[in-house]
Amino acid sequence: MRIVSVMNMKGGVGKSTSVCMLAEALASQASMRVLVVDLDPQSNASMILCGLDKWSELRESERTLDAYFAQFVHGTEPRRFHEFIAPRISDLQGEPVVDLVVATPEFRYVERDALDKFIRQGFTITAVQERLTRLMASAVESVASNYDVVLFDCPPGISLFAEAAITMSEYVVIPTIPDYVSRLGIFAFRRRAVRSMEKRRFTEDNILTLITKYDPNIVLHESEVLSLRSDFKTFDIVVPQNENIARAGEWSETPRSFDQKYGDAAGIVRDLAAEFQEKVGLL
Ligand SMILES: Nc1ncnc2c1ncn2[C@@H]1O[C@H](COP(=O)(O)OP(=O)(O)O)[C@@H](O)[C@H]1O
Ligand SMILES: [Mg+2]
Repeated sequence: MRIVSVMNMKGGVGKSTSVCMLAEALASQASMRVLVVDLDPQSNASMILCGLDKWSELRESERTLDAYFAQFVHGTEPRRFHEFIAPRISDLQGEPVVDLVVATPEFRYVERDALDKFIRQGFTITAVQERLTRLMASAVESVASNYDVVLFDCPPGISLFAEAAITMSEYVVIPTIPDYVSRLGIFAFRRRAVRSMEKRRFTEDNILTLITKYDPNIVLHESEVLSLRSDFKTFDIVVPQNENIARAGEWSETPRSFDQKYGDAAGIVRDLAAEFQEKVGLL
């Protein structure tokens, strides 16, 4: 089993989209068992993968990541992590194993309340961080045997839970748009990520940059791809700006095939998943 965080300080660079594409391609094209854990209160990956109705239903029945952590922070009734996993939620035909723990906007309050409570109990921020990391790690461990890969969709910036996710991860994927400002942001972020991963002796080699939203009509994109390749360890696959990738984010009531869902981008998404398998040692 591999744990991989998809992360970038910047928003809008394709983190959630990459998580969803990877999850669906790995599950439906390579028969992997995938668990997606949404750590972003914006809940984009959750809504993309399970649709708005199912997401609302999970939120109402309190099968969400914030409800899971509420037991440790607010002292709600103890429940096990597997109860919070929504199984096989994708709209792809054949019910591939894309399981999901959804985020909701309330997730940000759990993090704030955890800080508030534990600091008041005399913990330092570092100790709170370690505690949340341990809670998250034991949650994932409790279901690890059911999955080949766990993907964390992280919020932009660095939250306590995102930090926990990096600490637990064997690999971090950084989606980025090939432009100058985005590239600068990666330098600082990568240093930070390495620091968290070093505890488990992972190095820069475990941080993979994924170029997304590439537009061949933008001249700058071409030179920035070259710069990204020389500065960072990157995927060979470049994900283009593609309408079908954006459209695939809309949940369909009628199950569809992978090729129907991703249209002319299906081949790229498949290739991305294959390269991911190879790069993170899942072959
Ligand atoms: N390769 C792509 N082609 C076209 N649109 C994309 C692509 N990747 C992402 N998008 C769109 O860009 C927006 C931001 O993507 P998202 O994955 O939510 O970014 P992040 O999670 O980094 O904030 C979304 O509207 C998404 O549909
Ligand atoms: Mg996102």
